[in-house]
Amino acid sequence: MVVPAGSFYITTPIYYVNAEPHVGHAYTTIMSDILARHHRQRGDETFFLTGTDEHGDKIARAAAELGRSPQEHTDAISARFRELWGAFELSHDFFIRTTDSQHIAEVQRILARIHDAGDIYKGSYGGWYCTSCEAFYAEGDLLEGHLCPQHRRPVEWVEEENWFFRLSAYRDRLLALYDANPTFVRPAHRLNEARRIVEQIEDISISRANVTWGVPVPWDPKHVVYVWVDALLNYVTAPTYARPGEDLTARLWPADVQVLGKDILKFHAVIWPALLMAADIAPPTSLFIHGFVLKGGERLSKTTGNLIDPMPYVERYGIDALRWYLAREIRFGEDGPFSDEGFVGRYNSELANEFGNLVNRVVGMVGRYRDGVVPADPGDDGEFAAFVAERVAAVRSVLDGYDVTNAADEAWKLVRRLNQLVEERAPWVLAKDAGATRALDQVLLTLAEGVRVAAILLWPYMPGAAQKALAAIGTPSRLPLLADAAWGAAAGASVAPTDGPLFPRIEEQAT
Ligand code: MSP
Repeated sequence: MVVPAGSFYITTPIYYVNAEPHVGHAYTTIMSDILARHHRQRGDETFFLTGTDEHGDKIARAAAELGRSPQEHTDAISARFRELWGAFELSHDFFIRTTDSQHIAEVQRILARIHDAGDIYKGSYGGWYCTSCEAFYAEGDLLEGHLCPQHRRPVEWVEEENWFFRLSAYRDRLLALYDANPTFVRPAHRLNEARRIVEQIEDISISRANVTWGVPVPWDPKHVVYVWVDALLNYVTAPTYARPGEDLTARLWPADVQVLGKDILKFHAVIWPALLMAADIAPPTSLFIHGFVLKGGERLSKTTGNLIDPMPYVERYGIDALRWYLAREIRFGEDGPFSDEGFVGRYNSELANEFGNLVNRVVGMVGRYRDGVVPADPGDDGEFAAFVAERVAAVRSVLDGYDVTNAADEAWKLVRRLNQLVEERAPWVLAKDAGATRALDQVLLTLAEGVRVAAILLWPYMPGAAQKALAAIGTPSRLPLLADAAWGAAAGASVAPTDGPLFPRIEEQAT
């Protein structure tokens, strides 16, 4: 079935620049990168946005602790994120910084519009504030001793005259949005969580009087815009200036999917669509809420002190290995552990043994038994061809629901079935039998075709290794399209062995 290509806009949260990037940030960005690449394979005009969240007291304090100005600090840490995403060959189309002057001007314009529409009013507020969350908490939600439930750090009493957004006025419209679009928030149980939050919403303060590091409120510049409002708006400000001289808004908005961790569900599933409604902008089509990467059972975080630097894994085993481990090990939508044993185990059993070896063996056998040319299709493996087509259809349909892990499992079924086929049909036995020419041609064609399609399906997950596998099978491509996963293209291809194994086995302990 040919599905017409469209456009696809995907975003990650923008990361706080209070500390260096870690595996948690890499996780969200890599999962989003997998989805973006998959859509490029569909031929969709894809736009993938990521960036850094640079304003607010949390950042100003982090800068002060290091004796830097907020601007110096944000410049340095934002650059670290960009360097890392560059080293990881992530495929984002734009990297937004909330300190960009164009972003600031757009935030002010949108906020003025909401103000003009009458949804912003002045009030005074006292509440418990967690600077790590940049959010107020109700007394009842705090842990004993006035600690933030997320960070287990003391909250501070903040009392000021502020500008408020009439969030409570959007309660019914939010519920109507969820009812009309049950996949607005995925997985489904997270939509119920959003419903429960909406049932109790109150108006929120959207400015801060005692903070200076932020976007000035346009009609009252003694206040700065609440950092979450400034940050959320990045998803609509970026399209206005990501391409100089061009406004991509009409092409990109509403975003197809916004990927985020469960810690920031309320901001994205409740406050964000309400702000958009107030500004007369359509809500995004869907949000995908993922779980946490855990170490020792705890979420990776600066406060817990269990951060993992992704760089050593990439330096030693390659970015493809890290991408695959995260996508398979931490079921997308659930929490999951990151451990050295898990990393090494999955790398050796899946990447080195199952996939790397398979590519090697198939290329080697075509070399040995057919002078390096994949034979024409004798046409006796219709059932296997149908199985391959089913895997392609399954990956596509599972990724329609953005389930990165289940789609990886679907693709992997093909790798496993190909390994079985090698054992079942034993081409090395057929090669010794003069009467088995057709059977040998068939198995070699089927294996080559299977490896080619597996590499196409795995390309979003492990772009480098998939490209090498495609080149080895004689059908090189930098952006293998899903349409090319149809049975047939490998026949007649000249195989070319890779320089060494795709994934050399890890013998020692990980980092
Ligand atoms: N700046 C805000 C987001 C503003 S978006 C308009 C923020 N930044 S953050 O850097 O603290 O975290 C952003 C995201 O990073 C989380 O939602 C999540 O996607 C990812 N993660 C941070 N730590 C993580 C884990 N330990 N595990 C998985 N993802 C994690 O919140």
